[in-house]
Amino acid sequence: MGILSKAAVTTSVTKPVLTAKTVTRVGTRAGKSVSAWSLGLVGAVGGEDAVDVLTRQHRQIKLGFLRAALPGPPRRRNFDRLMRLLAIHEAAEEAHVHPLARRVLRHGRELTARRRHEEKEAKRLLVALWRTGPDGPGYLRRLNEARRAVTRHAAREEREEFAALRRAVRPSRLRMLGSEVKLAQVYAPTRPHRWVNNEVMNKLAAPVLGPVDRVRDAVRHRVMS
Ligand SMILES: [Fe+2]
Ligand SMILES: [Fe+2]
Repeated sequence: MGILSKAAVTTSVTKPVLTAKTVTRVGTRAGKSVSAWSLGLVGAVGGEDAVDVLTRQHRQIKLGFLRAALPGPPRRRNFDRLMRLLAIHEAAEEAHVHPLARRVLRHGRELTARRRHEEKEAKRLLVALWRTGPDGPGYLRRLNEARRAVTRHAAREEREEFAALRRAVRPSRLRMLGSEVKLAQVYAPTRPHRWVNNEVMNKLAAPVLGPVDRVRDAVRHRVMS
């Protein structure tokens, strides 16, 4: 099974049906609201919580870096899959997960500022890697640089942010966040964009860059096949 086929966020998600009734709030606790709309999302995209979704994607990303280093014809396909997974993963974290962590965790502001700094640095390396491409000079060196930055960043997220979210946030809220993450990934850009690196930019850019990237991906695959 391919790396992204397990992530399956682009193929298995059904858009929730929104009605006036479903946006009615049905519960609030400690400043964190639970809406019927979010509950509808959980039903529509499955009950996996955000920490499980993102931790699974971290494992897929690590494997993706190894696959993208393999020589031969599959390298291009493995590279494209890795870039896509990285782009949608970070977009969802930046738009949905870090903002919640910033609000609800003790020292959340400082903690998420450190994560965003790491993400900016990783994105700089990923943009350089994207421009080099799997056939370009210095590809393996750039791939390895990006791999080190991304895996270090992912380990810190799991250790500092995800573990704290598990302690601070109710399981039902984390499952809703998991649904928000999966839905955001359906529309997220599929390649690294250096200036899209925070909540506002991700939410603004997704409806524009997401479709544009997907069209460019489709054209690229048609040209190469
Ligand atoms: Fe991240
Ligand atoms: Fe992550």
